[in-house]
Amino acid sequence: MAILVTGGAGYIGSHTSVELLNADYELIILDNFSNSKKESLNRIRDITGKDFTFYEVDLLNREDLEKVFLDNQIDAVIHFAGLKAVGESVSIPLHYYHNNITGTIILCDVMQKYGVKNLVFSSSATVYGMPNSVPITEDFPLCSTNPYGRTKQMIEEIIRDIYVSDEKWSVALLRYFNPIGAHSSGLIGEDPNGIPNNLMPYITQVASGKLKELKVFGNDYPTNDGTGVRDYIHVVDLAIGHIRALEKIMSITGVEAYNLGTGKGYSVLEMVDTFEKVSGKTISYSIVGRRPGDISTCFANPSKAKEELNWVAKRGIKEMCEDSWRWQSTNPNGYEITIKETIRN
Ligand code: NAD
Ligand code: UFG
Repeated sequence: MAILVTGGAGYIGSHTSVELLNADYELIILDNFSNSKKESLNRIRDITGKDFTFYEVDLLNREDLEKVFLDNQIDAVIHFAGLKAVGESVSIPLHYYHNNITGTIILCDVMQKYGVKNLVFSSSATVYGMPNSVPITEDFPLCSTNPYGRTKQMIEEIIRDIYVSDEKWSVALLRYFNPIGAHSSGLIGEDPNGIPNNLMPYITQVASGKLKELKVFGNDYPTNDGTGVRDYIHVVDLAIGHIRALEKIMSITGVEAYNLGTGKGYSVLEMVDTFEKVSGKTISYSIVGRRPGDISTCFANPSKAKEELNWVAKRGIKEMCEDSWRWQSTNPNGYEITIKETIRN
């Protein structure tokens, strides 16, 4: 079975590509490298010992995208390609709406034209906005609070409309909680541009000496230690969730949303403490004011994914911290051009 992965050079896409190859799927990846590096593709090959077809294509370029569908007999698409920085989406909303929404509309239109109606879509827990309670179930109201989140919410609605118009479509909308960690080989991981916005890459860069200290955004939330609580999920568990979702959509039609989280929440200080224990590094931090737009506590009820996809997250926070640290410490500059890459290209 041939699977097209959009955004496959990125953080979650590269880990999912590894799991697809390990499960013997035929893999086609497309990416425009707007937020990733070519070297991640070499690493996917190194980990799996398997090959795949790659296209440097921007989803906004319909002609180039059609070529991918003309060249290959695609059975399903896993759609990761999109921009994801919340703060940036507030500064350049039109760019986010165009890239994420127009990109998805073009993709779905081309899929429709070539009779490919099986889709796994990367949504986000951000669609729940500021939930009234936790744990969050899939039937909670959707009310994103920023342009990035609204692109996810709008795309979910667009996809539901497509299904209403043509019931042959089969789609899983996967709402990820907080993906962290890296492949246990240390060969692929998250490679943020510039100063990281998210907690785990920030912690690992403090540990490696690239950043001086972590700023903890608020210690006056109604949580155990006052710091924000999130549902961190290992990126490999998340990747495996995509394989389960793919198996599901190949057997039925319809549109279903699934929370992919562990169901457990950890505070910022608990994450710092666990990271220090597994890495043997001290993470200097100071408490600063709350980050605008942050919520106190967010964790999933992942029962629907367990019951309908036969999926549960297996890796705990110790393993998440260990794998994040292995990736950062062995690739201090992420995928930045290495001699190895220069030789291969
Ligand atoms: P990422 O930036 O590492 O990967 C996204 C990939 O898509 C990149 O390789 C980028 O170059 C590519 N891309 C972007 N626009 C494109 C376009 N128009 N054409 C072709 N390629 C394009 O991000 P990630 O963390 O792997 O996230 C993957 C998906 O999951 C995104 O849609 C993101 O919004 C969603 N998501 C991520 C998180 C998270 O915390 N990482 C949480 C929830 C949802
Ligand atoms: N935090 C700090 N200092 C930092 C970074 C984060 O204290 O330097 C705290 C935050 O205040 C929050 C927790 O660490 O309490 C996690 O913050 P992240 O930025 O790592 O994650 P968020 O939950 O804020 O947001 C992430 C993604 C969003 C996505 C959301 C839900 O960035 O894109 O998870 O999936 F929408």
